[in-house]
Formats: sequence, C-alpha cells, structure tokens
Amino acid sequence: MSGPNTNHDPVPVAALDPEAIEQAVQDALDACAGATDLAGLKSIRHSHQGDKSPLALANREIGGLPPGEKAEAGKRVGQARGRVAQAFKARQAELEAERDERILVEETLDLTVGTPHHRLGARHPISLVTERIEDIFVGMGWEIAEGPEIESEWLTFDALNIGKDHPARGEQDTFFVEPQDGGVILRTHTSPVQIRTMLERTPPIYVLCPGKVFRTDDLDATHTPVFHQFEGLVVDEGITMAHLRGALDTFVQGLFGEGIITRLRPNYFPFTEPSAEIDCRCWVCQGEDARCRTCGGTGWIELGGSGMVNRRVLASAGVDPDRYTGFAFGLGIERSLMLRHGVADMHDIIEGDVRFSSAFGMEI
Ligand code: PHE
Repeated sequence: MSGPNTNHDPVPVAALDPEAIEQAVQDALDACAGATDLAGLKSIRHSHQGDKSPLALANREIGGLPPGEKAEAGKRVGQARGRVAQAFKARQAELEAERDERILVEETLDLTVGTPHHRLGARHPISLVTERIEDIFVGMGWEIAEGPEIESEWLTFDALNIGKDHPARGEQDTFFVEPQDGGVILRTHTSPVQIRTMLERTPPIYVLCPGKVFRTDDLDATHTPVFHQFEGLVVDEGITMAHLRGALDTFVQGLFGEGIITRLRPNYFPFTEPSAEIDCRCWVCQGEDARCRTCGGTGWIELGGSGMVNRRVLASAGVDPDRYTGFAFGLGIERSLMLRHGVADMHDIIEGDVRFSSAFGMEI
C-alpha cells in the first residue's frame, strides 16, 4: 500500500483560478455561438473540449492541489466543462436542424413540373398486328418466309394452277409491270412466297408468309389497292384438314380470344382442293345476338380462304404429291385489324395519321 500523498504542490495554479476558468467557459460559449455550420463547429470543438483545451489542463491540475482544495476546484472545473459540453451539444442540435431543413428545401423534387416532351410517334397498327400474328405461328414452331413484291406471273398464277383465262389475271385485278406481256406483275397475293419456299426447300415445311399485296381496287371504306395478307403453308407427310383446322383455331384464339372456334365452308380456289372459306365465331356476341353489329347477327365472321394444297401445285413446285400433302390458308391483315379493333374506315389505316396510330400504343 502506498502512503498518503503529502508530496503535493502547495502553490495554487493559475489555470485553476476562477476567473481564468470563467474566461475559458466564456471563450468556448462565444466560439460555439459564432459557429455557423457543422463543419465550423467541429473545427473549434477541439480547442475548447480537447485534451489540450484550457479546461482539460485545469482538470489535470486538480490532482496536484492540497487535499482541502481539491473538492472545490473539482466542482468548479467540472461545472465549467459541463456548461461547455452543454453549449456544444445544443449548438450541434441547432445546426443539424438547420441543415436538415435546408436539405428538405434544396432537394425537393417537384414531380408535377412538366419535362421537355419528346413525341415518340407510334408504330403503325398494321405492323403491330402483323407481329402479333407472326408470334402466334412462331409459337407453334413455324417459320416466317418473305418474298418480292414485284413478282413473276408464273409464280403468282401459273404455278398456283390459275389458268390463263382466270379473271384474276386480267387488268381488272392485276397491276402489270411494263411491258405488259413481260411476265412481271405486282403480286396480288402472297401465295408465290409459298411456291418459292417449296422450290427452295424440301418438306417438312411450316411457314407463314406475311406481306404487302396489290390489286387494282379503288380506295374506299373497305378496299385499298395496297394491302397486307398473311398466308400459311404446311407440307409434310400425312397432313390432313384436321391439321388445318387445329392451326386456324389456335390462330383465332391467339388473336381474338380464348374459346373462339372456326368453321369451314366449302368453296373453290384453283390452288387448293378441297377448298374452304374460314369463318370464326363472333367474339362479341358468341352467336347469341341477332342484332350484333360485328357479325351482322349471323354469329360468324368471314376471315379468308383455305384448303388442302392442290396436287398440281405441289407438283409444279417440285414436291412429290404421292408422298406429301399440305394445307394452305390466306387472310387479310387490314381486315383482321378492322375486326379486332373495330376500325370502321380503311382510310384511317392507310393515311398514316399519328393520332390514329398512337391509340394502339407502342405495344411490341
Ligand atoms: N391466295 C388467296 C387469296 O389471296 C387466299 C388463299 C390462300 C386461299 C391459300 C386458299 C388457300 O385470295
């Protein structure tokens, strides 16, 4: 055990002088009040509260005082340090509150303010509906095939079993490229793409041929000389009309809605045998409203033509008709768009007014 500490410095130290302490407190309080931001407060804090600050030094001197003086000096220094600490704490809180308030104002985002508006335009609904139709068939594993719009008469008519005297080949229907007997026309349907596909490849063939076609119709509410079609062609072993029906049902359900069914009605096309007209159930009234404006009360909507590919067409495209059979169908894209979206006038589709197109959005 060590003995009592008698070895103290009996001389009072200037640092413990009440006036000096009061002065140190005043200096600290003034500096504190003068700090205008948190960084400023932090930079002066050390001189008033740090290890070498006058009050810290005074505190250290207490140990050297005669025992009778320690208590009072300790109280005085302790209170002084308490006041300084209190002042710094209060000023810190004040400055933090000021900073928070300022940040709230400076960093406010006015979400109602208008931004510079870039009009993106709109994709044409013909492109949108074409892509949607393509997606349905690609989803069944089919490929997309394309061909030229300026086409040979042979691929457009002869290879499709359309005879020389067929009305479709006349000037009433077809645009000829000069010279008129040169055998080059604007394609009147996308069927030549099917012939091209069969000539280029061997079955199995599952293709969808969308594209622009041309006929000498005048522009009115339901006709246009330039329009779009998509035709499908399947050639494989053992293909029957049941496959045609299944493909068409999948298509109409993809485009017009769940549960829509198709109906095939006998018809005639030179390139298919047997041939059938494709109708689908009216998706508005489901056949239950005799006054339905969409289907005219019949319960069915005519979509296009179809059939089993004529043996003669297979043969002229180099496919063995004894080994393979196939089906084909053709539908108008404008008509599908008008039906699906209730577009009443063809002019709206061909004029390209962005106000019409933007109603369909940028859907892709
Ligand atoms: N090519 C026919 C047309 O444009 C449509 C069709 C295609 C019909 C395939 C039957 C089979 O009118």
